[in-house]
Amino acid sequence: MKTEHKLINGDCLEELKKIPDESVDLVFSDPPYGLAKKNGLGWKYSKHITLEEAWDIFSKDEYFEFSLKWISECMRVLKQGGSLWVCGSFHNIYLMGFILHHLDFKINNSIVWFKPNAQPNITCRMFTESTEHLIWAVKNHSKTRWTFNYEDTKNIEDPINPKGKQTRNVWSIPLTPKKEKWAGVHPTQKPEELLRRVIMSCTREGDLVLDPFAGSGTTLVIAKTLKRSSFGIEKDKKYLDIAKKRLSQTTLD
Ligand SMILES: C[S@@+](CC[C@H](N)C(=O)[O-])C[C@H]1O[C@@H](n2cnc3c(N)ncnc32)[C@H](O)[C@@H]1O
Repeated sequence: MKTEHKLINGDCLEELKKIPDESVDLVFSDPPYGLAKKNGLGWKYSKHITLEEAWDIFSKDEYFEFSLKWISECMRVLKQGGSLWVCGSFHNIYLMGFILHHLDFKINNSIVWFKPNAQPNITCRMFTESTEHLIWAVKNHSKTRWTFNYEDTKNIEDPINPKGKQTRNVWSIPLTPKKEKWAGVHPTQKPEELLRRVIMSCTREGDLVLDPFAGSGTTLVIAKTLKRSSFGIEKDKKYLDIAKKRLSQTTLD
């Protein structure tokens, strides 16, 4: 099956408006989490500074407005029965859930992504965060059936989910391995295994997958290997170049 893959450099608030109504089967979104600080977060024993990406800095109100806008556009472009996946940490995922409810999405699952090799807590004043959350919501106004490839999901395998059984909503997947970062550094590149599970479960061959925050292009890379078409939007040219490089080296499974 012939598939098409398109990556564009732009702001998704503008670019999403150009996509026709009800034309997309799956939106996978890994948006800014609104966590970064102007001067980053440091540790007194190290020079390493984290959480300082400019694209992730918002006031509370700005973050709410921004999220409401892009999620509303995703609702518009999704086909009836289409799926929207939203990634987040505990800092923003409740707000994402609130907006999804407000916009009348049907929430099918909340997936907990457990990271067995998560970074230690640098403040030593709270438990070590070792999870992220993904909400799976569908556009369900006309009660159109959503895609869920139940039999294929039984091939998912990790320390929590034995192969051949129903898959639980807790997925154990290590942090993105170095071998997936060969094309350049993106600070929040998602592991390919995470995208494989989402796209394999919620789409069919030939479907169109949209990622409004494409980053290093993980969604498009996996869509291509699974014979789905894809469309990615990324604001930062340096990340777009990484995504293009990865996509050009991706062959079908
Ligand atoms: C959390 S990262 C996505 C990482 C991606 N899932 C991957 O595997 O590489 C979010 C990305 O969204 C981009 N971004 C932030 N605001 C944007 C906007 N308004 N429009 C398009 N891209 C945006 C950032 O530059 C960043 O690369």
